[in-house]
Amino acid sequence: MSSQNIMVREFADIRQASRTAVKYIIDIAGAAVADKGFCTIVLAGGTTPKLTYELLSLPANAAQINWQQCHLFWGDERWVTAEHPDSNYFMAVRALLSKIPIPPQNIHRISTEYKDPATGAAMYEKHLHHFFHRAGRTSGNSPAENNTLPRFDLILLGMGTDGHTASLFPRSPLLGEKRKWVASVPGGTGSPPVPRITLTLPVFNQADNVLFLIAGQRKRALLHAIQARPKEAAELYPAARIKPAGNLAWLVAARP
Ligand code: 6PG
Repeated sequence: MSSQNIMVREFADIRQASRTAVKYIIDIAGAAVADKGFCTIVLAGGTTPKLTYELLSLPANAAQINWQQCHLFWGDERWVTAEHPDSNYFMAVRALLSKIPIPPQNIHRISTEYKDPATGAAMYEKHLHHFFHRAGRTSGNSPAENNTLPRFDLILLGMGTDGHTASLFPRSPLLGEKRKWVASVPGGTGSPPVPRITLTLPVFNQADNVLFLIAGQRKRALLHAIQARPKEAAELYPAARIKPAGNLAWLVAARP
């Protein structure tokens, strides 16, 4: 499936790009709640989205989202405890979740409390099945089709300077995954090099909206390479394989 709409917007710095990301999140959440009564947003990890989360938590912005109807998920998680400084969940807690009136049951973190990452991945997939299908939140498909991929309203993503996104790294066998929604990733790659849990390409590519937020000249040059030579880039950079059913937007800050 290829994206219907691709938008790239360039900004001088991360503050400007983050302000636009906040607007994007507010608009999509509002439209989804108006349309079907709830919205589903997948948060990105890493450091780049931290300012977006902080800006979103400011009262004037936070008041524009119906948090009661907003469900938050994660695109990937590092295999560390929930209060570890490297936890993607914990970053979001500090920057956003601790400051907004979101019901705890609307926070769908990737738990790292299972015996191993493979079990953690299977349990998160089970949780997604439950949320979207058993609880009747299947969108765009018949609720009877219990295996249809979840269709998130908005997925936020970052990109590494090697072209990875979420925990999908270059040359990973996971790039060919067709069946699993969530998978474990062995340690040794990425920073920190701990094992990870990630959503898979079929799930990312089913989304209604994907928003990449990237900063710095190396990532900017990488995006330009992806745009100029998409076929070659798809072989080299996992981020180039993100082609959602809906809209794809890149917010690019020249300076972090
Ligand atoms: C992770 C991420 C990862 C991240 C990129 C960019 O858990 O590490 O989800 O894919 O988005 O590595 O990270 P920075 O924003 O820190 O550069």
